[in-house]
Amino acid sequence: MNNNESCHKTSINWYPGHMAKTKRLIGNELKNIDIVYEIVDARIPYSSKIKDINNLIKNKSRILIMTKKDLCDIDVTKKWIKYYEEQGYIVLLVDLKESQDYKKIIECTHNITKDIQEKRIERGLKEKEIRVLVIGIPNVGKSTLINKITGKKSANVENRPGVTKQLNYLKTNVGITMLDTPGILWPKLDDQNVALNIASTGGIRSEILNMDEICIHILNTLYENYPSKIKEIYNITNNDVMEMYEVIAKKIGAFKNGEADYERVSLKVYNDVVSGVIKGVTFDIWK
Ligand code: G4P
Repeated sequence: MNNNESCHKTSINWYPGHMAKTKRLIGNELKNIDIVYEIVDARIPYSSKIKDINNLIKNKSRILIMTKKDLCDIDVTKKWIKYYEEQGYIVLLVDLKESQDYKKIIECTHNITKDIQEKRIERGLKEKEIRVLVIGIPNVGKSTLINKITGKKSANVENRPGVTKQLNYLKTNVGITMLDTPGILWPKLDDQNVALNIASTGGIRSEILNMDEICIHILNTLYENYPSKIKEIYNITNNDVMEMYEVIAKKIGAFKNGEADYERVSLKVYNDVVSGVIKGVTFDIWK
């Protein structure tokens, strides 16, 4: 590995220009919004939470939606749910991939906005379409959720953080209109562990990552917190980094000039997390 390159790649570039634009757009649009869906990845319920969200969405009603329930360590994530509920959040844990969990979100939205509708009816008005703003850092499942609720392939589902989107209201047939966040929001990237957790679960474009660093973070997290899992998946029983790479290289047949192909091993481990081969893991450890 080239040291200069690794130093360069480690300083994660989080697109400040895009973020400023997103913040401005949300600020302008907030007056039209009835409720915010704040989306986080259930494997990183702390790390994927947007920094300064309260300043951004003020006192709007909000549902904290934790996606990828099928991939998280449910016991640890439940502790985070309790933590947020104690702070007054309404939290929904959902699997957007293989379940109908999104229906819970629709139901909760109508419950939360009952007052708005009742007031309108008292004033002789029709019920309104509830306007929802969907926000979250890249890769947490915003587009997937919008597609589920709108019932079409309308949002841009692409596992590539950094794709800028236009401000776009999408109609549904469940009394909700959805506004996707155009672009990028900012997590707490000044915290190195947060940055590594986000990178490990696919929230930062892989082209700008130091894959070895990410892989070592994943392996160490698994070794320390999920020893039986890392044994089962890679047959790792020792936390010496070089040995871990050797064992995985052997398992997947990744050798170059008689040595472990470190690049391939790193990529394999990263892909195993991002694609969900490794599940039942929450990277934000509860301490
Ligand atoms: P974003 O708009 O917030 O950037 O996220 P997006 O919806 O594009 O979702 C990112 C990836 O996460 C997608 O995978 C999506 O399928 C997956 N995903 C979203 N919610 C869940 C969930 O609850 N469980 C699981 N297991 N995966 C989820 P992808 O590889 O980009 O696309 P796909 O072809 O697998 O759908």
